[in-house]
Amino acid sequence: MKIAVLPGDGIGKEIVAEAVKVLGVLDLKLETETALVGGAAYEAHGHPLPDSTLQLAKASDAILFGAVGDWKYDKLERALRPEQAILGLRRELGLFANLRPAICHAPLVGASSLKPELIAGLDLLIIRELTGDIYFGQPRGRRTATDGHFPGADEAFDTMRYSRPEIERIAHVAFQAARKRGKKVTSVDKANVLETFQFWKDVVTEVGAQYPDVALDHMYVDNAAMQLVRAPKKFDVVVTGNMFGDILSDEAAMLTGSIGMLPSASLNASNQGLYEPSHGSAPDIAGQGIANPLATIMSAAMMLRFSLNQAEAADRIEAAVGKVLEQGLRTADIHSEGTTRVGTREMGDAVVKALRG
Ligand code: IPM
Ligand code: MG
Repeated sequence: MKIAVLPGDGIGKEIVAEAVKVLGVLDLKLETETALVGGAAYEAHGHPLPDSTLQLAKASDAILFGAVGDWKYDKLERALRPEQAILGLRRELGLFANLRPAICHAPLVGASSLKPELIAGLDLLIIRELTGDIYFGQPRGRRTATDGHFPGADEAFDTMRYSRPEIERIAHVAFQAARKRGKKVTSVDKANVLETFQFWKDVVTEVGAQYPDVALDHMYVDNAAMQLVRAPKKFDVVVTGNMFGDILSDEAAMLTGSIGMLPSASLNASNQGLYEPSHGSAPDIAGQGIANPLATIMSAAMMLRFSLNQAEAADRIEAAVGKVLEQGLRTADIHSEGTTRVGTREMGDAVVKALRG
């Protein structure tokens, strides 16, 4: 089993090191190879996703990814910005299914900005389509307007589009995931305004007919944003397009107390996957040893479960994370009175200890 390790920028290096440490204590034959990605790769090779990194990713069963980005690259032309590395990997590997679970760990109920009763026991799964929509739709660019409100003015445009097979395959992922959980799918769209998302709703409804055992409902994205903070426990599986999923998954992450707790999986049709925390590179705290490594450690667990067929090892890691939280260990982002504040490395060491114990 070969894993490409791509730590990236900012806190990426620190948190990925802890996840690799945790993987190392499992009794598994894992071969890892590390490569540069994002700003770090741009500095060394002049490109955020060098061909050598892309080839390594393609040749691996799974990719363990940290985070990319730093404000200092904001002025680079778009094609060279760190974010292009993750977008390029998604596109080149066809990683169309993004799974972002938002689970509230009991000891962290108080860390949420919502009332404890709203989020105690929360367990929802956002399934975000990841290779289509306005993120990748062509054409896009800048030009001089020939119509609209200001003909003759400079303008910019992107294209929102989805094809039937793209919607069908992500809908199947959602219904199949729901079958293994609460048997309920909420499809999030903007069918009241957008042609693309009326089509999305129609196709999801058609696919849903093949899953009579799973309840399907539809929600406009603005309402979904509201319901997520009003009654988040009413959701089981949420399926949506690339851009709405980007926004709603950050919102869902925060329900659980900290975005530092949320893992994610991005899968292609052959279950090859990229695993990364849902949060970013946090350049403001990079190098200080205070970042929360748990989202990355739990991403490694998802990797074992979805791409490497090691569900038992995945369960063990998740149980170990639960144990360190029960012990009261907290990184700065989830720290509260009466708990013990630890750094990135201590948190990783505690998970290793819990695994061994
Ligand atoms: C995410 C991130 C990315 C996205 C950025 C870094 C391109 O926000 O994975 O949610 O927008 O998809
Ligand atoms: Mg995002």
